[in-house]
Amino acid sequence: MAVTDRPGIRPGDTPTPTDLGPRSQGPSAQEIIAGDRVPPPSTLLIESQLDLGTDDIPVERYTSRAFHDLEVDRMWKRVWQVAAREDDLPRVGDTVVYDLADMSFLLVRSAPDTIRAFYNACLHRGTQLRDRSGYAPELRCPFHGWTWNLDGTIKSVPCHWDFAHLDQAGFNLPEAKAATWGGWVFVNPDPDAISLSDYLGSFPEHFVWDTARRYKSLHVSKLLRVNWKACLEAFMESYHVIATHPQILTYLGDANTQYDVFPGTGPGRPGWNRMNTLSGVSSPHLGYTPSEEDILAAQLASYGQDPIPVPPGETARRVLAEATRQVYTPKPASIPGDELSDSEAIDNILYYVFPNFQPWGGVSPINYRFRPNGNDPDSCVMDVMFLSDYAGDDKPPSAKVTQLGFDDDWTEVEALGTLAMVFNQDTGNLPRVQRGLHATRKRGVSLGRYQESRIRQIHHELDYWINRPPAEKE
Ligand code: FES
Ligand SMILES: [Fe+2]
Repeated sequence: MAVTDRPGIRPGDTPTPTDLGPRSQGPSAQEIIAGDRVPPPSTLLIESQLDLGTDDIPVERYTSRAFHDLEVDRMWKRVWQVAAREDDLPRVGDTVVYDLADMSFLLVRSAPDTIRAFYNACLHRGTQLRDRSGYAPELRCPFHGWTWNLDGTIKSVPCHWDFAHLDQAGFNLPEAKAATWGGWVFVNPDPDAISLSDYLGSFPEHFVWDTARRYKSLHVSKLLRVNWKACLEAFMESYHVIATHPQILTYLGDANTQYDVFPGTGPGRPGWNRMNTLSGVSSPHLGYTPSEEDILAAQLASYGQDPIPVPPGETARRVLAEATRQVYTPKPASIPGDELSDSEAIDNILYYVFPNFQPWGGVSPINYRFRPNGNDPDSCVMDVMFLSDYAGDDKPPSAKVTQLGFDDDWTEVEALGTLAMVFNQDTGNLPRVQRGLHATRKRGVSLGRYQESRIRQIHHELDYWINRPPAEKE
C-alpha cells in the first residue's frame, strides 16, 4: 500500500452524508442535552457524518521522512495555518517568528491594521532576519546590515555601489499570504491560495464563540517524541479515556461522545470536524450507574472542590451546570446568546480545522496547535494556548511562550492546574505510539468507524493535498 494510494474514496471526492451505524449503549449526547435547563446554541444540536470509507491508514504516514517531505511540499506549503494571535503583535513593529519544517516566516505588524508574513531570510546571503519574536523598528539583517522597512520595502544596503548589477526592484522582501479570523493570524505560503474565508468554509458559522474578544492568558510550547499527526489525533477522540484516564469515568460520557464531520465545499476547501464529550454524566463503560451525588462529588473533587448536594429530582449535570453558570456570571463577552447554556458551561467541545488547529468551544479557554519539529517525522511541537475573557475595556497583553523540552513535564506549568496531569497521561503514551509504529509488522493503522471518524477526515484531506500535482492551479 503506497502512502498516496488509498482505495475507496478518491482525493477530492465529495463524500456522502451518512449514518455510520452502531453507537455506544446508553443515552446519546443529544438525548442528554435535551434534558438541560439552558439549551445550547443551535450549532450544537446538529449531527453530521460522512462516508469516508474504512481503509487502514498507512503506517509510513507517521514514520517516513519521504512522506514528511511530500507533506511539506504538497500540503504545508499550500494550506492556511495558524501562526500567531493578532494580540501577539499589538504595536506597529512587533514581530513573531513562525517556523515549520524548513520554512520560517517573519510576521510583522507593518501598519496598525496590517500584518504581513515575510519569508524570514535576507535577500543578500540568506541569513534568517530574526530568530525570535519581539519589537523591531526596522528589519535589519545581523550579518551585513541590509535593512528593510516594516512593509518589506528595501531601506538601505551598505556599500550600495557594489550591488549595481542587481535588479533593485527585486530587493523587497517576498511575502506569504496572511489573514485573520477569530483573533488568530493564519499564513499560507501559496501565492495562488484561495482566501482564508473560502478555506474555512462553514466552520466560522458553527464556531459561535467570539475568541477575538479574548486574550491569550497562557501559551506553552512542548516538544514531543511522536509524529505531529499521531499527537494531534490523540486529542481527537474520547475512545482513549477508558484506558488512559480511567479516573474520570465516573463523570464523563466518553463512549457516548458525539462526533461530527462536516464536508468542505470543493477541492482545496477542507472539511472540518468536532466532538462533544459530555460532563456530569457517568461513562457507559462503568457497567453500573453511580448516584447523581457520587457523579457530582467525583467531578468536583477533580477540581479540588467540596461536594454539593443534588436536590431531589435534579441531576449532577444540571447542578454542575448551574454552579458553573454562577462562576461565569456576568456572562463572558465571548459567549453568544442571552444565557450560558449547560453544554457550553461544562462539556468538552473540541473543534478541528485542517491541518493542525484545535480550538475548544464553550467557556473552555483551551486551544491546541501541532507542527512537525523541523524535518523530523518522529517528533513534533505541540502548543497549548489559553484564551480568556477579561473584565473592563483594557485587553491584557498576550502571555509569553513557556517552552517545555522533550523531558519536561506539563506539571512544571503551574497555570495548567489539574489539566497538567491529564496532559501527562495523554502525552505519556505518545513516544510509545511512535516506537510501536516503527516496530509494527502491520502496514496500516485501523480506525473505529464512528469514534475515530475525525481522524479519518484528516487523512481524507491529506489525500487531496498530496495527490494534487504541484503545478495544478484551482
Ligand atoms: S546576509 Fe543579510 S546582509 Fe548579508
Ligand atoms: Fe486524553
